[in-house]
Amino acid sequence: MSPTPTHRPDGAKMTQLVKDRAPDGAQEPAVRLADVAVRFRSKKRDVTALTDVSLDVTPGEFVAIVGPSGCGKSTLLKLVAGLLKASAGQVRLHGEQVAGPRHDIGYVFQRAALLEWRSALKNILLQAEIRKLPAAEARARADELIRMTGLTGFEDALPHELSGGMQQRVALCRALLHRPPVLLMDEPFGALDALTREQMNVELHRIWRETGTTVLLVTHSIAEAVYLADRVVVMSPRPGTIQEIIQVGLPAERDYAETMGRAEFRDATTHIRGLLGTSAEDD
Ligand SMILES: Nc1ncnc2c1ncn2[C@@H]1O[C@H](COP(=O)(O)OP(=O)(O)OP(=O)(O)O)[C@@H](O)[C@H]1O
Ligand SMILES: [Mg+2]
Repeated sequence: MSPTPTHRPDGAKMTQLVKDRAPDGAQEPAVRLADVAVRFRSKKRDVTALTDVSLDVTPGEFVAIVGPSGCGKSTLLKLVAGLLKASAGQVRLHGEQVAGPRHDIGYVFQRAALLEWRSALKNILLQAEIRKLPAAEARARADELIRMTGLTGFEDALPHELSGGMQQRVALCRALLHRPPVLLMDEPFGALDALTREQMNVELHRIWRETGTTVLLVTHSIAEAVYLADRVVVMSPRPGTIQEIIQVGLPAERDYAETMGRAEFRDATTHIRGLLGTSAEDD
């Protein structure tokens, strides 16, 4: 069975017809981008990073975003986080217009960005301190996440005493501490070796299923995108547009090795590789 494209650039027009508020009983998308464009203007240059981007993400859905370098993937995540303002179009989180930095999201960056002088646990609890969450509750949640990510026994380790994969797990725990309904991840496993990356993929998939968080993951790995996501958004080179959205169609329970051997996995990866052409960096 070949993967089913569910969106084409010409589908953007349809979004304009969607009413501002969902009808009673219907669920608002966790994330909605409607005809979004981003332009960066300076004296030196004028760059259109994104244009005509429309995307609805259902609560609890896992969406991966792939595309060539510079096509606006990080820009798209920053829009959702409220760290950047769209030049045109609308960005909504749970039906609410994003007007500034959002606190109801988790953000994981390419580098773990841990504070070197704080232990793993204290790096995780930083999230609680910033948000002034009740200490006992935050500690209980941190312990739960530490168990979930296999960091038990390393609570007091400093970042330099942890492997790259463990540091990313600490960053993931920190991003999940306040139970954000939306988790944004920008190439979180790019710096890891292939084996650790595989383990992190399996762990992230399990954590996503356990927490029910909506995830937007930017990655350069087509295999990672297809293994993890419900849908994969393929972007075109700059100015970034959505070239196609692929419904992966794999079962929710995904054993890593077994998934790699499945026809749906091979079809989706081959199709995406074809869309991205030779510019695709894949493992
Ligand atoms: N703050 C900014 N000011 C000016 N231009 C910017 C800014 N942020 C991004 N850009 C430009 O917007 C375009 C998209 O950048 P973005 O970082 O979103 O790409 P990307 O898809 O994440 O690339 P990569 O895969 O290399 O991380 C690039 O041409 C970049 O130069
Ligand atoms: Mg980027």
